[in-house]
Amino acid sequence: MDWGMKNRISRIIKPETGRAVMLAVDHGYFLGPTTGLEEPRKIIAELLPYADSLMLTRGILRTSVDPKSSIPIVLRVSGGNSIIGDDLSNEAITVSVKDAIRLNVSAVALSIYVGGKYEHQTLKNLATLISECEEYGIPVLAVTAVGKDMARDAKYLSLSCRIAAELGAHMVKTYYCEDFQKVVKSCPVPVVIAGGKKIPEKEALELAYNAVREGAAGVDMGRNIFQSPNPVAMIKAVRSIVHENVRPEKAYKSLKL
Ligand code: 5RP
Repeated sequence: MDWGMKNRISRIIKPETGRAVMLAVDHGYFLGPTTGLEEPRKIIAELLPYADSLMLTRGILRTSVDPKSSIPIVLRVSGGNSIIGDDLSNEAITVSVKDAIRLNVSAVALSIYVGGKYEHQTLKNLATLISECEEYGIPVLAVTAVGKDMARDAKYLSLSCRIAAELGAHMVKTYYCEDFQKVVKSCPVPVVIAGGKKIPEKEALELAYNAVREGAAGVDMGRNIFQSPNPVAMIKAVRSIVHENVRPEKAYKSLKL
């Protein structure tokens, strides 16, 4: 792995703790103005100081993030579908690597749908993207999206994460599940977890705590932060868990909910 690749990864997974608090605000690429992301510029400005990196789309980066910001960017480069379309797994690569470089990103992110109708297409997208990104030292975060008929269990998530790693992904984003440590153990690259749909804050903090305790390199969380009544307090609480191993009960108390 060359210097550039290592340097970019270190902007996302912090060397001081070996962990990452990635704020995910890319949901609009298929959900549109979803709750909490109606005004992206506002919520991003509020949360930016507490995130290690920001996962978002090209359009929101260009329109809603101050170019003077030093926040490392993880650019969503797959898409081409919508929540009202026929199949969310029908994704393409939607941003060129050249444009990602122009946007000075630290990594790119692409979804795969193992077991979905368009499984082959999305795995081919990942392989193509990785081959091109390797040339420029840009790390690729594979997002293991879960097809609607798939169970989010360790068997399925281990399969998805391992396939992504075998294809050459540098980091993988998946979901927390029972026996999560098995998912981490069988994936040879760092794994971060998405928060998934909004759940009570206490449960979301327990999820983050259990995930890092079982070997996750951190979180790439969105809805459980920006849909919380106090998103700043929530991202701070998540941060305390990920980077300081604060227990979830204590982190929850800091929310004063
Ligand atoms: C959906 C995504 C999000 O980046 C990912 O799901 C993390 O967000 P959340 O914590 O809200 O699930 O890939 O577009």
